[in-house]
Amino acid sequence: MLITRLNLTKKLFSMTSKFGKFVGNEIEYIKKYLDTEDPKNKNYPWVQKFEEEFIKLSGAKYAIAVNSATSGLHAALEACNLSPEDEVISSAITVVMNSFVTIQSNLTPVFADINPNTWNIDIETIKSKVTDKTKVIMPVSLFGLPVDIEPIMNFAKEKNIIVIDDSAETIMGEYKKKFAGVHADISVYSFENKKHMTSGGEGGMVITSNEKLAKNIRKFSGIGYKNLTASAGRVSMASSEFQDPNHIRHDTIGLNYRMTPLSAAIGLAQLERIKFLVQRRIEVAEMFLDATKNCSWMIPQKKIEAANHTYFTVAFNFLGNEKKSISWKEFYNMYLQKGGDGFYSAWMNPYLETALKNKKFGKTSCNIGLCPSAEKIQKNLMLFKTNYRNLDIAKRKANVLSSLIDEIGRD
Ligand SMILES: Cc1ncc(COP(=O)(O)O)c(C=O)c1O
Repeated sequence: MLITRLNLTKKLFSMTSKFGKFVGNEIEYIKKYLDTEDPKNKNYPWVQKFEEEFIKLSGAKYAIAVNSATSGLHAALEACNLSPEDEVISSAITVVMNSFVTIQSNLTPVFADINPNTWNIDIETIKSKVTDKTKVIMPVSLFGLPVDIEPIMNFAKEKNIIVIDDSAETIMGEYKKKFAGVHADISVYSFENKKHMTSGGEGGMVITSNEKLAKNIRKFSGIGYKNLTASAGRVSMASSEFQDPNHIRHDTIGLNYRMTPLSAAIGLAQLERIKFLVQRRIEVAEMFLDATKNCSWMIPQKKIEAANHTYFTVAFNFLGNEKKSISWKEFYNMYLQKGGDGFYSAWMNPYLETALKNKKFGKTSCNIGLCPSAEKIQKNLMLFKTNYRNLDIAKRKANVLSSLIDEIGRD
């Protein structure tokens, strides 16, 4: 009896530990990082190792670790050597950070409406916003779904426009059989705490296969140190060279967006488990997709043929207001009352956030009506979490959703 109970406890423990957040080499690497008594650890190049592993995984030529995707996007824009008021096209459904870094770089944000099914911008919505001043297109791979990048790249090449894929929410996406993000000129990933993997709360990675862009990105995010190169974040120098009052350290303007070694140590351990971390989210997403099957008023994000979906979140366009006279908030409360978990709404459209609303940037007036599809869908979106550590709990929540939909009626 006791043995059976012990075995059961062991089994339960191994299950939860497998699904725990930091059950790989995170603790071991942190200890190694802290143990500077050991000469092997003292100057261990954690950031460089993390970048090297990301290069292997993605197939990009260069990877630059940064302290957030926001800083990565800023460095990416600054790397493009643009002129004031050049235009940057981004999506009308995404976080506000893309617009903030655009404005900080003295560039003009332009918002393209979304494809009503994938909720990403696409070549048609982009074309309607392109002008002679468009120098960057910054699509987002929303909620874990890689953006349909090939038509955008073909168009951008013709027009000499740089494409920066905001892949903050999409790691391990596969687009046309390659790592999603590697197709763009630059791609940026986020390791903030809620993402598929984290580097300890905040962090990001920028990839590119263009040496000049890589060097510029590294220099901007590394305070403009003159000896930084596309692939080297640390360059050793004879002390006689820098212990000299005439030594010049910085040859370009930059900020300190560098990832810390401690962060890289955690990121490295998480990267070792990234396939599992993503796969688990896909499994959870499938439970919620099953729960909403044949429901005419919960429409999932439409996948594209060229890519998989990595389900940072599993999202639905809720048409309950029109079809069942149930508001977003009423449905939210009904789901909670039946034992479901709180789910998220989409962020406000970036140009309608208070920081930007009613302001004008170049020809962009940040007012209601700028991107009608995006504004309509933003009000309806329901984002269910996929980062359950325990799949039984996820299943229970999906069952709650399914029975609530049955009660209301799927038609
Ligand atoms: C689509 C998108 N872009 C950019 C960011 C910014 O990432 P970070 O929090 O790492 O700065 C996020 C994070 O929330 C995001 O979801």
